[in-house]
Amino acid sequence: MIGETREKEIYEVLQEARRSIEEDGKLLSKVYNESSIFDLEVKRIFSKTWVFLAHESEIPWSGDYVLRRIVDDSFIVTRDEDGDIHVLFNMCRHRGMQLCRSDAGNSSHFRCPYHGYTYQNTGKLNGVPFQKEAYGPEGLDKDEWAMTPAPRMEIYEGMIFASLNPDVQPLEEYIGDMGWYLDFYLKKSSAGLEVVGPPQRWIMPADWKLAAENFIGDGYHTQSTHMSTIKAGIMRVKSPAYLKEGVQITAGKHGCLFMGFKPGSYFNYPQGIVDSMLENLNEDQVELLKEESIMPLNATVFPNTSFLHSAMAVEAEGELATSVPYLTIRVWQPMGPGKMEIWSWCLVEKDATEEFKKNSNRAYLSTFGASGTLEQDDAENWSGQTRVAAGEMSGQHYLNYSAGAKHVEPIPEGEWPGPGTAYPKNYVDFAQRHFWQTYFDHLLDDRNGS
Ligand code: FES
Ligand SMILES: [Fe+2]
Repeated sequence: MIGETREKEIYEVLQEARRSIEEDGKLLSKVYNESSIFDLEVKRIFSKTWVFLAHESEIPWSGDYVLRRIVDDSFIVTRDEDGDIHVLFNMCRHRGMQLCRSDAGNSSHFRCPYHGYTYQNTGKLNGVPFQKEAYGPEGLDKDEWAMTPAPRMEIYEGMIFASLNPDVQPLEEYIGDMGWYLDFYLKKSSAGLEVVGPPQRWIMPADWKLAAENFIGDGYHTQSTHMSTIKAGIMRVKSPAYLKEGVQITAGKHGCLFMGFKPGSYFNYPQGIVDSMLENLNEDQVELLKEESIMPLNATVFPNTSFLHSAMAVEAEGELATSVPYLTIRVWQPMGPGKMEIWSWCLVEKDATEEFKKNSNRAYLSTFGASGTLEQDDAENWSGQTRVAAGEMSGQHYLNYSAGAKHVEPIPEGEWPGPGTAYPKNYVDFAQRHFWQTYFDHLLDDRNGS
């Protein structure tokens, strides 16, 4: 079994697993809950790629900070007195105490509870108690002993990413073609987005990849998994197969998504936001909105940042329920083999009306918040898949990723206005296979291009 093999043997298993997903459309189920594979993910994925930490609007004022993680590495994301953003490793340079322990706050300095070293929110070391007694008349070289910044930090349309890899390619290049599609989430208004409160967080006994993969384009599960929400009358759709029609897309090495829902009315966005999206998006993007009447619904930027754009009926006071759109950004934070913490933000256009912001958040909470009906449906699957992958059998057990392989061709170049490769259906596995190829390329560290 994989768990008992040495590194070389794991490498061989992973090579065969990659061949299998590429050539046969089959995935080795053991990847969902195996400690030696998890260790490699930490080393070769989460220590090498870009990971989303926070949205700029979470720290709007000088002194604001939030605490974030890349797997087990804790970072303080701060905004200094000049308005600049820093991502600082949350470990005192003296003896390694965790400097900041509150999830969010406002402070110009962080004082270590152990011996009292004090750092500015830029990371600069300011104060060392009894400095001359401890370090002599010259004192300590404060520049040398400043807080350690994340090896890389870059901001993409208000989204703050960091990487443990000093040599990672620039974020914009990493996002690549996927940026064209992310515009639909992030650039509808020139005012930009803001978070509605802090992210919700909850721990799930499930593998992070299940969620990342589901968010790429698993329209197929909705007709089965989400029947409970439909039957309860919470989701009013004409057919349970409401995501059958649409387009699945692979965009660059790190991006996958699906578009659909044929909203007809720009997802029911208020006219002000419709006007600004038509103004802010480019001609080709507007063509998709107008001609095809579709928008990106779900997307994942490899490895663990996902987007979900949907709409849900919300009853305004004294009025009939209307469909209100919402946007959530996710981080599937790995905590160990078969375990993750989900971080979920709800975002709205900064210049939207207060009423829209409130209703959009209500639509989000009722469906994909921690207690949302659709979220609960999905959680049951992901934890069940993880549980059964823990056993010995899953080391020889292969899963089906062949939907669309025999009968669906990509939309010919020239007929699709966006970048990447688009497939004219949602009940297919092209994006999923692309995700897994990227995953194995990183694990095997041979053609990951970053
Ligand atoms: S561990 Fe922080 S001051 Fe000593
Ligand atoms: Fe779902």
